[in-house]
Amino acid sequence: MAEDKLELLRGVDLFSSLDSDQLRIIGQVAIEKHYRKDETIILEEDDTNLSFFIIVTGQVKVYLTGVDGREAILALLKEGEFFGEMSLLDGEPRSASVKAVENSKILMVRREDFLEELRKFPDVALEMLAEISRRLRKANKQISSLALMSVYGRIASCLIQLMEEQGVRTKATDGTRMTLIRNRPTQQEISEMAGTTRETVSRVLNNLQKKGYIVMQGKDLIILQEDELKHEE
Ligand code: CMP
Repeated sequence: MAEDKLELLRGVDLFSSLDSDQLRIIGQVAIEKHYRKDETIILEEDDTNLSFFIIVTGQVKVYLTGVDGREAILALLKEGEFFGEMSLLDGEPRSASVKAVENSKILMVRREDFLEELRKFPDVALEMLAEISRRLRKANKQISSLALMSVYGRIASCLIQLMEEQGVRTKATDGTRMTLIRNRPTQQEISEMAGTTRETVSRVLNNLQKKGYIVMQGKDLIILQEDELKHEE
C-alpha cells in the first residue's frame, strides 16, 4: 500500500488506537475518491451503495431537503471526520444527503469491508460510538434551539457552535482576547443551520457587528465579545 495513504489514515482520530500494520489493513480496503465543490456524495433515502467515508481534505455538509426544496444543514464535517456510519450500522437507507462544500479528498470503504474491520478492531468501534454520542449531544442542542429560541438566539448559538468547533483564540494588538473563525460558512449556510432565511441572517449579523460583538472580514469571522454573544442565545 502507498505510504501516503498510510499517512492519511494516521491523521484520522477514529483510527488513533491502531498501529501501522493495522492501519495498512484498513488502507487495503479504502478507495481514494475526489469530489469537486458542490458534488453530491450521498443522497438521502438511497439504499444502493452503503459505503463508509472518511474526509482526508476538504469539507462536506450533511443536510435534509424539505418538500419545497429548502435545505436544513445538520452538520458541517471536515478533515479527519467520517460519515455514512448510520447506514453502515443499521443497513437502512441513507438518513441525509452529503455534499462537498470544497474540493475534497475522501476515503471510501465498502460496507462489508468496514463491518469486518470493526469486528477486528473493537477500539475503532468504541471511538465511533463516542463520536456518535457527541453528534447526538449536538443534535439535541439544535432541537432545543429550534424549539425554544428566537431566530436571533439561534443565529448567535450557531456562531458559538462554530467558535467552539473551529475557532482559534488570539489577542488583538491592545491585548483584548478574541476568537478567529477562518473560512466561515456563507450567510446562506448559516441560515440553513439556524432554520431561517439568508436575509434574516444578514440583518442579525449586521446588528451583532454594530453592537461590537463580532467582526466580519471577507471569509473570516472574529468574535470579540464572547460573553455578550452567549447572552443573546
Ligand atoms: P448515513 O445515514 O449512512 O448517510 C448520511 C450520513 O450523514 C449519516 O450516515 C451520518 O454519517 C451523517 N449524519 C446524519 N445526521 C447527522 C447529524 N445530525 N450530525 C452529523 N452527521 C449526521
